[in-house]
Amino acid sequence: KKAIIITLDGYSSCGKSTLARQLANKLNYVFIDSGAMYRAITLYFLRNHINWEDLDAVKNALTEISLSFQYNEHTGISDMYLNDENVEALIRDMLVSEHVSAVSALKDVREFAVAQQQEMGRKKGIVMDGRDIGTAVFPRAELKIFVTADPAVRVERRFKELYAKNPNITIEEVRNNLEMRDYIDSNREFSPLRKADDAIILDNSNLTREEQLRIALDWAHEKI
Ligand code: C5P
Repeated sequence: KKAIIITLDGYSSCGKSTLARQLANKLNYVFIDSGAMYRAITLYFLRNHINWEDLDAVKNALTEISLSFQYNEHTGISDMYLNDENVEALIRDMLVSEHVSAVSALKDVREFAVAQQQEMGRKKGIVMDGRDIGTAVFPRAELKIFVTADPAVRVERRFKELYAKNPNITIEEVRNNLEMRDYIDSNREFSPLRKADDAIILDNSNLTREEQLRIALDWAHEKI
């Protein structure tokens, strides 16, 4: 059996990370949530009051950031670490979501993250989800999936997830944030979100988690 690279790209809150994680579990592959890396960088910028319009300040700040994924025995998933601190919960905060797309549009930020992502995939046997994984990070990946879902379904799913942690959140806030991120992510200058020409579309608006996994596993087995 040969190890391959599987990429999942798509709009915000399409369930990419969950599917990517389940797929990696089934195949015994490494799973990487690339969005968590951009979120951790954003958290660092916010906490340290880095003005990201100042490119020298950005370059300098990036030299102080070390990112890693560490396995959590209690949850069975890998948590995002920023300079040896577990920031998994913090990076899901609305404050980070509000600024992450502006931060990840910066060329230096992308180069910093992409170099580490490519290194993680050097030995293949990896499933990575994000926005530019099939187009810029692993343009030669063996299996590329572009995940989409009806915007109303995405807002509903994300709202439920955030509401569980913060009952003050409103559906409008969630909708505005998703629309804003999708707009910035799709229109930025450097590696904007778009479907790779050789990616297969998976519209999961009406699919259960199990159905999506089955479809993706079938596609993977055709390539392995
Ligand atoms: O995947 P998630 O929604 O957590 O990603 C958060 C943000 O990080 C996205 O809205 C996008 O701005 C950025 N991102 C990116 N490239 C990736 C993954 C995420 O620019 N490969």
